[in-house]
Amino acid sequence: MLTLGLESSAHTFGAGIVDDGKVLANAKAMYDIGAGGMVPSKVAEFHALNAAGVIRDALDKAGITLRDLEGIGYTRGPGLGPCLQVAQLSARTLAHRLGLGVAMVNHCVAHIEIAKHASGLKDPIVLYVSGGNSQILKLAGKPFRHYRVIGETLDIGIGNMLDSLARKLCLNPAWGSTVAKTAEGGNYIELPYTVKGMDFSFTGLLTRAEELAAKMSPKDICFSVQETSFAMLCEALERALLLTNSKELCVCGGVAQSTRLRSMLTSLARENKARFGYVENEFNADNGAMVAFTAERMLLHGASTSPENCDIMQRYRAEEAAVF
Ligand code: FE2
Repeated sequence: MLTLGLESSAHTFGAGIVDDGKVLANAKAMYDIGAGGMVPSKVAEFHALNAAGVIRDALDKAGITLRDLEGIGYTRGPGLGPCLQVAQLSARTLAHRLGLGVAMVNHCVAHIEIAKHASGLKDPIVLYVSGGNSQILKLAGKPFRHYRVIGETLDIGIGNMLDSLARKLCLNPAWGSTVAKTAEGGNYIELPYTVKGMDFSFTGLLTRAEELAAKMSPKDICFSVQETSFAMLCEALERALLLTNSKELCVCGGVAQSTRLRSMLTSLARENKARFGYVENEFNADNGAMVAFTAERMLLHGASTSPENCDIMQRYRAEEAAVF
């Protein structure tokens, strides 16, 4: 089913096209956050200016026209309100014009579904790590098929924590991949480490790292923040693996692009005799293809909404979304 998926929950406007689970196109335009971070209204303006061009790019890459589309999906949430509106309005307008049903996709579920598909894992413990979210999830069957959150951050997402650190250290661009580059060759210094069962917290770690910013080298701070925060995730994940007796582990979301995190998770999986999987970076960063992939499944199972009933949910949790 030729399906267009639109994503605009944060800094990226993405348009992906999928047919029968196969990605035909994954076009995107990304807002340049520079050293200052994101102002939602400015990012939304960027998305509005780029939406038509990115959609056209996706159609060209897939070698189809709008009239060939059989379904449309967009990210309903979670995300920044003004940004989410752009994909929502684009999807509604196209669906109305083309007479198509729309799938309202949960962003977290889209990240998980494409990573699970790519890695061939059936029922893994999932670590979903991005700017606004850091959660451990497992598929549950009742009262409907959904991802149950069995552990999560008690304050901020790990991606936001790394972005905040990058801004404090005046790194440019101010986000996690620059922290990772700065961390190369750094030395370990002890920082607050907070894990409570399968939950974790990052604000104490961030506050201490920011306090040390004036007197220690950025290299050592970045290295130590990465090592400490990733170790926290590993401890909580190991507990989740043991408690659920699971033998599969999957990581997804923007922070899953970190090679250091993936190397630590590879060791964790090996020690627990679990299979470990993830998807290519192109699909871990926010993208339209993951939305199209999830939307196609939803539409094939009848989870279709008429354009006039489409909405956004800024705090749309993964466990509220049915999985097909
Ligand atoms: Fe994301």
